[in-house]
Amino acid sequence: MSFKKKVALVFGVTGQDGSYLSKLLLKKNYQVHGIKRRSSTRNTERIDDIYEDINEAKNFYLHYSDLSDGLSIYHLIKKINPDEIYNLAAQSHVAVSFEIPEHTMIINTLGTLKILESIKIINPKIKFYQAGTSEMFGSSPPPQNENTPFYPISPYAISKLSAYWITINYRESYKIFACNGILFNHESPLRGETFVTQKIIKGLINIKLGKQKKLYLGNIYSKRDWGHAEDFVEAMWKMLQQKKPDDYVISTGKQYSVKDFIDISAIKLNMPITWRGVGLKEKAYLNDKVVIEIKLKYFRPSEVSSLKGNYNKAKKLLKWKPKYDIHSLIDDMINNEIDNFD
Ligand code: NAP
Ligand code: GDD
Repeated sequence: MSFKKKVALVFGVTGQDGSYLSKLLLKKNYQVHGIKRRSSTRNTERIDDIYEDINEAKNFYLHYSDLSDGLSIYHLIKKINPDEIYNLAAQSHVAVSFEIPEHTMIINTLGTLKILESIKIINPKIKFYQAGTSEMFGSSPPPQNENTPFYPISPYAISKLSAYWITINYRESYKIFACNGILFNHESPLRGETFVTQKIIKGLINIKLGKQKKLYLGNIYSKRDWGHAEDFVEAMWKMLQQKKPDDYVISTGKQYSVKDFIDISAIKLNMPITWRGVGLKEKAYLNDKVVIEIKLKYFRPSEVSSLKGNYNKAKKLLKWKPKYDIHSLIDDMINNEIDNFD
């Protein structure tokens, strides 16, 4: 008996989630194709280890494209004709989206449209996953679930909400198996350095080891529901294995402030910090030396202050629940950073 290998196409393969998802799919015996964009420096660090594994490398292919380039997207989808497409590619930084709102819309919104339009023309049987986000809830108070009204308050969130509705529209109009994951924040050792969790972990370790004097942050009172990317990519895959396409909140159901994240990390690193002052003058001290300061430039024009997801639907229908909690997440990030410290 011969089984046809499933084929997946991953947009955003070089990102945090793209790396975890590719490894998961390869373990499940998929042939994985990834889209990388041209950059002046190497951007494949997060997936280089796949090439080092002989078994994985033979099922893994990279192609140049870009979410701004509709024709190349069309031709690649036609050539590869995958069973499943995961759209993880995005200008994914909320603060940066206020600086480059037009680019954020072009990539996050129109990029999604380009993929779905190609699927519609080439093969509407291709299943599609869209990387939606808890940022779409914006100022709607927690706990947030699939029925919570959206109230996006950044160009990033608006671009993603538009892509969310495009995905639903193609599902309803053309019967495409298209799902939105509404994922809350998820982190890992592969998290980009300008997101707050990785900035805190790297900053504290650098300070502890004498490589950096201070860490500068913005709003430390916003609250997030932080999970681990390894858990969350499994939910993406599960969505595409259901009988019917649908949209799901993926989260941990637990909420911490940025300041909590700093305090937990500092305790784990054996750095007994104390906080003094308020507002922009609030500072963290280690042995009477200032190690963390608040800088106005890291505040956003509008801030999502409180996110906490209710993932009951995913638990019930996808049989999904997170394995990591905030402690095992931070342990993983710290251990990895210390192992790779130079
Ligand atoms: P990430 O690390 O920033 O990765 C983004 C990926 O998109 C990278 O591979 C990046 O390529 C690629 N990309 C950016 N612009 C592109 C373009 N114009 N054309 C093609 N590719 C482009 O993001 P992530 O944390 O893995 O998140 C994956 C997706 O989930 C994103 O859509 C994000 O918005 C969404 N999301 C993330 C979270 C979270 O907490 N991580 C939560 C909810 C939703 P380079 O490597 O070349 O930059
Ligand atoms: N990046 C950053 N840098 N954030 C800071 C800083 C800082 O120096 N200081 C405080 N923060 C606060 C932000 O204002 C925000 O309230 C919180 O830390 C988390 O910021 P990020 O780590 O940048 O993540 P995010 O919540 O804005 O967005 C991430 O999660 C979304 C899902 O809710 C990104 O991964 C998005 O792509 C994703 O959709």
